[in-house]
Amino acid sequence: MAGASRWANIDDLESQRKKEKEEKKRLKQLKQQQAETEAEALRAKKEQEELDSRPAKKRKLSPSPENRSASASSGEKRKLLRFEAGGWGPCRNVSNFETLNHIEEGTYGWVSRAKETATGEVVALKKMKMEYAQDGFPVTALREIQLLQHSKHQHVINLREVVMGDQLDEVYLVMDFIEHDLKSLQEIMPEPFLASEVKTLLLQLTSALDFLHTHWILHRDLKTSNILLNNRGILKIADFGMARRTSDPPPPNLTQLVVTLWYRAPELLLGTTTYDFAIDMWSLGCIFGELLSKEPLLQGKNEVDELSKIFSLCGIPTDMSWPGFRRLPNARSLKLPRDVEQNAGSIIRTKFPFLTTAGCGLLSSLLALNPESRPTAQDVLAHPYFKEAPKPKSAALFPTFPSKAGGEKRRRASPHAPVRGGAAPGLGGKEIDFSGIFARRDEEQHGAGFTLRMG
Ligand SMILES: Nc1ncnc2c1ncn2[C@@H]1O[C@H](COP(=O)(O)OP(=O)(O)OP(=O)(O)O)[C@@H](O)[C@H]1O
Ligand SMILES: [Mg+2]
Repeated sequence: MAGASRWANIDDLESQRKKEKEEKKRLKQLKQQQAETEAEALRAKKEQEELDSRPAKKRKLSPSPENRSASASSGEKRKLLRFEAGGWGPCRNVSNFETLNHIEEGTYGWVSRAKETATGEVVALKKMKMEYAQDGFPVTALREIQLLQHSKHQHVINLREVVMGDQLDEVYLVMDFIEHDLKSLQEIMPEPFLASEVKTLLLQLTSALDFLHTHWILHRDLKTSNILLNNRGILKIADFGMARRTSDPPPPNLTQLVVTLWYRAPELLLGTTTYDFAIDMWSLGCIFGELLSKEPLLQGKNEVDELSKIFSLCGIPTDMSWPGFRRLPNARSLKLPRDVEQNAGSIIRTKFPFLTTAGCGLLSSLLALNPESRPTAQDVLAHPYFKEAPKPKSAALFPTFPSKAGGEKRRRASPHAPVRGGAAPGLGGKEIDFSGIFARRDEEQHGAGFTLRMG
């Protein structure tokens, strides 16, 4: 432009230079930021790789012999072992809670409903019994606390904290309060659960069991009174007083006297001390049967009677169906009928006439005498029984019932969990004659879906 001032051009140049300088500064900052981000990502990746290279479950605390000699000879700088400290801290006092009502006295504790004074939240308090303490603190209580702390799952009872009373031996577990246990609930229900409800309960229970088993935890006391159900149809496994960690192969000489009698697997009754997750799967089968009929399935009066009831329902073990069962300690005192062609499936079908073929198949496999023939929790979750009609009912649609746990102390006629450390009763040492166990069966007429006992 003709009339444009010279100074104006100089000003333009000046501002252009300033802009370029600023741009250079911005780019430099950007580069620096990028470099920092890259360095950070590299550091995080290294840390992750280090974490990944550590074994997840069974952590080795000492180097393997080959590595030990290699690292010793190479004079490599030794690293100190580091243990995770966990979340230990001082426990709160039970005076932070106000007892509302007692729920139940079990083998290992007294359970009450309580309110946390500060928040008004209702919880369940389990006061641990100390009479089973051998070295200051009962091992069952220690296991229950430790295993519950490590079992955070939607269908496992949530342990909120452990609180103390005024005495050192007053220890309480503070848990979420759940309105019902399946045993008390069935006692007040006019009719058994519907097939769609049984499926939902079984799926929830099995998903918790799958979680426990994949984390190497055996529950060892599955029964309807240890399974809680809230008013939103959500089930929770409780009572880890008998639970313990296991391994593959299972540790030798496990306690034989575990699992409440009516839910105890035949291998335990026959005296095995090397058992695995299959004992929980047997209990699951007993619970399945109980949910269908509202009655415990195998109500033995003692160990011999329990075995007799098992054999009547599931058939007699043979060397074919259960190789090696005769070597179990208590099997030597059994006198079993010869040549009895028993088909457990058909007896179960007669007892549960409304159960579909797939349902009968699942129940008989869970109640297989041979522990190796029982399905795993994973197998159960994938079973066709859950795919066929009626479909599992949505938990939100579950009926609600008034909570007995919010009312008076209950009384029960069913057996409690076995006492830890007690001697396993065995079968009395004498010969036990089961040879006539199916004698009256011949007198039964099997109809389609019903059994008619003659005479
Ligand atoms: N979190 C909870 N909410 C509501 N009720 C509970 C809770 N935990 C336990 N209960 C009730 O208390 C009862 C006894 O609890 P638990 O099974 O933990 O004690 P236990 O002494 O080990 O019993 P047992 O020896 O009879 O198996 C349960 O059957 C259930 O009815
Ligand atoms: Mg219990």
